[in-house]
Amino acid sequence: MKLLTVLIFFSCALPAVLISNKRNDEPIIGVLAQELRSASSPGTSYIAASYIKFLESAGARVVPVKINQTQEEYESLFSSINGILFPGGGANLISSGYAKAAKILYDLALKANSQGDYFPLWGTCLGFEELTYLTSGKLLLSKTNTTEVALPLIFASGSRESKMFRHFPKDVLDSLASEPITENSHKWSLTVESFNNNEELRNFYKILTTNSDGKTEFVSTMEGDLACSTAKDFPIYASQWHPEKNPFEWTKPYIPHTPSAIKMTFYVANFFVNEARKNFHRFPSDKEKTDSLIYNYKLVYTGKKPDATFEQMYIFK
Ligand SMILES: *[C@@H]1O[C@H](CO)[C@@H](O)[C@H](O)[C@H]1NC(C)=O
Ligand SMILES: *[C@@H]1O[C@H](CO)[C@@H](O)[C@H](O)[C@H]1NC(C)=O
Repeated sequence: MKLLTVLIFFSCALPAVLISNKRNDEPIIGVLAQELRSASSPGTSYIAASYIKFLESAGARVVPVKINQTQEEYESLFSSINGILFPGGGANLISSGYAKAAKILYDLALKANSQGDYFPLWGTCLGFEELTYLTSGKLLLSKTNTTEVALPLIFASGSRESKMFRHFPKDVLDSLASEPITENSHKWSLTVESFNNNEELRNFYKILTTNSDGKTEFVSTMEGDLACSTAKDFPIYASQWHPEKNPFEWTKPYIPHTPSAIKMTFYVANFFVNEARKNFHRFPSDKEKTDSLIYNYKLVYTGKKPDATFEQMYIFK
């Protein structure tokens, strides 16, 4: 019985072992833009700079993925980058430019991964919510009182050994489980009940952590978990909380800045960038690469306004 368990464990872990022989130490990750809704704004879409810094802190470079591009443009970009991050924000999950681009990129990621082209995808907050819609085809979210609160994570049984968390140092996992270092700013959540009642989500993701607003238990972290059922590894990860804010955003009093909060952010970034190091897409030429990197765009200091959400943003015309 024991031997059988060990064999099953190894057969599920095998693809990752094979892939880890090669490594891409120059990962480039796409970060999806979204509509900028303020009437007085100097542009039509944006990316908060904290997502860029988060990925850069662990050794990735970033290209912005703008909204309203054609299918062909997204396909060409997809074949040039090593991972994609869907950030938080406030776009419509079905009709926005963010949602339409996310659908194309999600479908490309599923196709790539099912053909053995390892391509990681991360969704944060709105990105988490978008993934619940893309995977289930339904709007399954419920209102929770979680717009401005930092929480410790409640780990599901066995999730310290998950793909995401198993490489974290023990002290970081202990901090995550005991200190309020995960910042939540969402009105909507996927309740554990809705997750359990939806076959698509249940078959696709594994709940890693949950949280509660005092009344409703919701999923706070999940990862793609098709590895054992199909022998294909789907590196798709989602957090309802914001790993990127702790070191880089100072606009709200409930954003944690303790040493353990900052350290945790690094290990989340390190995990995802390491996933991108397993992908070998590349730009067709150095010129196309340098013309695409985020370095081509100017940072705007937006955090001075009293109602600001972000310290710095990239704003696209
Ligand atoms: C995207 O396209 C929609 C119309 O489909 C338009 O209203 C919107 O302004 C466009 N946004 C950007 C950033 O191009
Ligand atoms: C929402 O949660 C906060 C704590 O995070 C609490 O102070 C507040 O009373 C709650 N509001 C409602 C309506 O339950």
